[in-house]
Amino acid sequence: MPPADAPADRHAFLPGGRPPLEVVRTEGCYLVTPDGRRILDAAGGAIVSNVGHGRREVADAVGRALGEVDYVVPPFLTDSRRRLVERLQDRWLPPGITRCVFTSGGSESVDSAIRVARQHFVSRGEPDRWKVIGRDLSYHGVTLATLAVAGHEKRRKGMDPLLTEHPKAPACYPLRCSLCSGTCDLGCAEAIRTEIERAGPETVAAVIVEPVGGSTAGALTPPDGYLPRVAEICREYGVLLIADEVMSGFGRTGARFAVDHWQVVPDILVGGKGLSGGYAPMGGVFCREEVVAPIAEAGDEVMFFTYAAHPASCAAAHAVLDIMEREQLVERAAEMGAVLRERLARLEGHPHVAEVRGRGLLQAVEIVRDKQTLEPFPASDRTTARIVGRGIGEGVFFYPGGSGRAQDVIVMGPPLTITPDQIDQIATALEKAIDATLA
Ligand SMILES: Cc1ncc(COP(=O)(O)O)c(C=O)c1O
Repeated sequence: MPPADAPADRHAFLPGGRPPLEVVRTEGCYLVTPDGRRILDAAGGAIVSNVGHGRREVADAVGRALGEVDYVVPPFLTDSRRRLVERLQDRWLPPGITRCVFTSGGSESVDSAIRVARQHFVSRGEPDRWKVIGRDLSYHGVTLATLAVAGHEKRRKGMDPLLTEHPKAPACYPLRCSLCSGTCDLGCAEAIRTEIERAGPETVAAVIVEPVGGSTAGALTPPDGYLPRVAEICREYGVLLIADEVMSGFGRTGARFAVDHWQVVPDILVGGKGLSGGYAPMGGVFCREEVVAPIAEAGDEVMFFTYAAHPASCAAAHAVLDIMEREQLVERAAEMGAVLRERLARLEGHPHVAEVRGRGLLQAVEIVRDKQTLEPFPASDRTTARIVGRGIGEGVFFYPGGSGRAQDVIVMGPPLTITPDQIDQIATALEKAIDATLA
């Protein structure tokens, strides 16, 4: 029995808010609450559950792996890591990306990618290269290094004294772009060149981008020439390109990785979320041989996290990727993404929907007060939070997003197993939630 004076929100970390939504079971595309309500998970959790919930075979694979090896120091090899690495190298990673190291999630992976980029240059005898050029609307994680290279106003709030200053280029944000006069000539990509020049090319180690954006500004999707141009600029200056695909990777956008849409192979590719589909904490850093070779030649090591490459996580990821392949879920993400876009198209005429955007099953709507001027609602209205709350009332969980000039965005990233009927339910609930909130 809880003590009589226990606060109603005793399970929340911060006092005073509403008690968290309780979920007692997850199955398929649904979250089940204690009173038996089934909520359609249009966000796949935090855009994680690529193969959907309740896959018994993943739980069984994790159980088997733990029965064989519960833990070893991460540099040791286990059967579950061997099988995962081989699957990634043989069937998932872009050509030329051969080296894999694992972590417990997205932030740890991006943090490690930054360290690898830095170690690469230190080992090569270029210790002045340390800056990582990020973009003004981006998210790369919640460690201090990943917050520092990202441009997520809300999540950086109050942290500035703790964050090393890295240059920021404007994100590629076609809806509000003022970088090109008239037709697009990729001013946003050229802005990265400007930042490299301004910082001093001999001080820049890497450029980090989310090839398709996540929740910060809502599935920002660049024009076709953007990523190839950014890769070209990086090559020109001898700067490493880090593609953060923690959210967009492992099939989410209808390709194995979002970079594949544009046949760009980054120097370092970062994954998380969909890699293990939420069944175990997992992230990965995947590198070209040329990136890590100097580190090895210098006799240095890349320090691990204690739970890196944990057998449970490797087994979960291996089983999840097996399902992805067997059920052709990458292809399905592209197909169902087209259905989702078609069903959301009617929202494009909505007076408060500025844009529907995204790729595959990573899509978002941006909400504004004035569609002509793109003026947002006052921040104090908490428009996004209220729409998401109404969505739950309508039986659908949407992912709240938005930061900076993209203040209010509702993001969708359902399991890649979603059906057309469930997509109908998502589109209907979203329209109702927007209308009820803004009425
Ligand atoms: C692009 C991107 N990078 C990094 C992260 C951080 O990942 P995690 O929350 O697993 O640490 C996220 C999380 O949403 C993300 O979307």
